[in-house]
Amino acid sequence: MSSNNGSSFQIKPGGVISGRITVPGDKSISHRALMLGAIAEGETRITGFLQGEDTLATANAFQQMGVEIENDGKLVWINGVGLNGLKKSSNSIDLGNSGTSVRLMTGLLAGQNFDSELIGDKSLMTRPMLRVIKPLRSMNAEISCTERGTLPINITGKNQLQGIEYELPVASAQLKSCLLLAGLYAEGTTSIIENQATRDHTERMLSTFSHPITRNQNRITISTAERLIGTDINIPADFSSAAFFIVAATIAPGSDLVLENVGINPTRDAMLKIMELMGADIELENKREQSGEPVADIHIKSSELHGINIPEELVPVAIDEFPVIMVAASCAKGETRLSGAAELRVKESDRIQSMLDGFIATGVQAEDIEDGMIIQGGEFQGGEVNSHGDHRIAMAFAVAGLVAKESIVVNDCENVATSFPGFVELAKKAGMDITYA
Ligand code: S3P
Repeated sequence: MSSNNGSSFQIKPGGVISGRITVPGDKSISHRALMLGAIAEGETRITGFLQGEDTLATANAFQQMGVEIENDGKLVWINGVGLNGLKKSSNSIDLGNSGTSVRLMTGLLAGQNFDSELIGDKSLMTRPMLRVIKPLRSMNAEISCTERGTLPINITGKNQLQGIEYELPVASAQLKSCLLLAGLYAEGTTSIIENQATRDHTERMLSTFSHPITRNQNRITISTAERLIGTDINIPADFSSAAFFIVAATIAPGSDLVLENVGINPTRDAMLKIMELMGADIELENKREQSGEPVADIHIKSSELHGINIPEELVPVAIDEFPVIMVAASCAKGETRLSGAAELRVKESDRIQSMLDGFIATGVQAEDIEDGMIIQGGEFQGGEVNSHGDHRIAMAFAVAGLVAKESIVVNDCENVATSFPGFVELAKKAGMDITYA
């Protein structure tokens, strides 16, 4: 197998992970800051913004709809147009690889008085969209997609949305956020019932933009917005990007690493709990709050891990971290069982299948089940892995390379730029022997 689609990584075994590093800004929060900043009144200034392809796709989309956004690589400045100030884009809006952009924006655009067409790359064009389209239709939105329930999505923006009460059939923050954004424009109130916790960045940020939602146990209610007010937002480092280094420093003997200024929102941080159950040595230092989000420095020392049954209630709150948690499980003593994670099959790739393929290629014993994986801890032999164009699969196997017997080459790594620009450089700085192959 060789790469014929973008760059490859080569990782040689033996690095020690140490020092203090800062991973790029949080992807989920960056998307939301752009979206709310665009439809707020007045200026919004964002620091710590993720300069990744996914979040830049969201920025481009709003520029296409007439929003003035300046980005000098450090500060993103938005001149908000107000709730009804967006303009129809003259072209289809291409959201690249970004599921968050398309699902959240479908909700937001359903409330506009102009038509929009949303498209994306090969991976995004296959991902399920009916989960957002169906409840939006019951809010009186007019939306079409393919028969398979995929992009392109066409939104006819002429209908007045109506508030609904909706119980989420899947634990998805993208779906919840889509409906909250539509709820800003709906007549009456929109209530969402979530039976499993999912990330709550939208709820927190609506409050930062002066339109608080109410939460009563697992019921979240939003009322029609009169206005959002532009604000300054300082985005923490992305916990999901930090996760690669949490596992790297845990499995590479002799490691001692501090990850600075990482978001530790309780609806995102279950991977810490999972790693602790496996025996990891992780301390949270300097806990504080920043722009409505909890933040800390994460201190990791290497340790021996043991296999566990991953508690199902932790799955939605650690959903993006499973590729690298599975790598940790491969280095643990004994068996690790993951179930209740069927959502992994509809991410940027089928992450259960992509991880299984990589395990087979590198000599780890694992077996897939419909909604998870059973992994026998052991040793990576080394070999060549296909990331299936999925950023998190690519970075997970790069981490595995630290402790393999021979080098691991990961192919098709171009999409690492969607969430983690500068990954290779930062991994080198932290002590990994990683190069572009
Ligand atoms: C996200 C929610 C999750 C996550 C994705 C980002 C968000 O997706 O996997 O990377 O920003 O709301 P789902 O809502 O589909 O679980």
